[in-house]
Amino acid sequence: MNSRQRLRIALAKGRLYQPAVACFGRAGVRLDPDPGRRLLIPSSDPAIDFLVVKPADVAVYVESGAADLGVTGTDILRESGADVLEPLELGFGICRLVVASPAEDSWPQRPGGQTARVATKYPRLAWGHFARAGRPVEIVTVNGSVEVAPLLGLAHWIVDLVDTGNTLKANGLVERETILTIGAVLVANRASQKLKLDQHLALMRRLESAESAAPKEG
Ligand code: PRP
Repeated sequence: MNSRQRLRIALAKGRLYQPAVACFGRAGVRLDPDPGRRLLIPSSDPAIDFLVVKPADVAVYVESGAADLGVTGTDILRESGADVLEPLELGFGICRLVVASPAEDSWPQRPGGQTARVATKYPRLAWGHFARAGRPVEIVTVNGSVEVAPLLGLAHWIVDLVDTGNTLKANGLVERETILTIGAVLVANRASQKLKLDQHLALMRRLESAESAAPKEG
């Protein structure tokens, strides 16, 4: 089969990986749910293979055309600002990006009118949120375990994802504002969608009908 007919799909390691594998499985495209150290994975469909990368890299591979399609969360996608198409919401990975602060805070005031320091993995989205609200903040970018930042004095507030709310609660934090509702989406390379339109449409039809039959989250 020549490369004009094949589709390579980038999947994110981490919390979206298993739901994405299940979603493709419902659409009749089966792949190994435990790829181990392999980064390129074949599927039950000889015209489709998968690439497993860090979540922030899905949009990079798709924007560049190294992958035709990808599955990523809208949190990372909006943060990256990547120029990709978003043809389909996939209905899983639903959570929200929020501002949270310690329960004992007199939100949103800072003692002595101090500028709030905000720890986050999403500096661009956090900046946008506070800039739109006309509230000056300092952003501290971290790569994970954001909820510990207020406990250790690294920041006053955090901007992070909330799903069950357990992590906030376990760290004495309270959700104050919702910035965005997040979910998994199928993203597509612009040129690939033109050149391989039939393959893109056929896959999207399979995913759509599989998802309309799937149990809904939340
Ligand atoms: C995510 C997110 C929160 C947590 C929210 O972290 O950043 O920390 O999940 O989930 P909850 O509301 O159900 O508790 P992740 O597990 O991806 O790890 P990280 O903190 O290292 O980014």
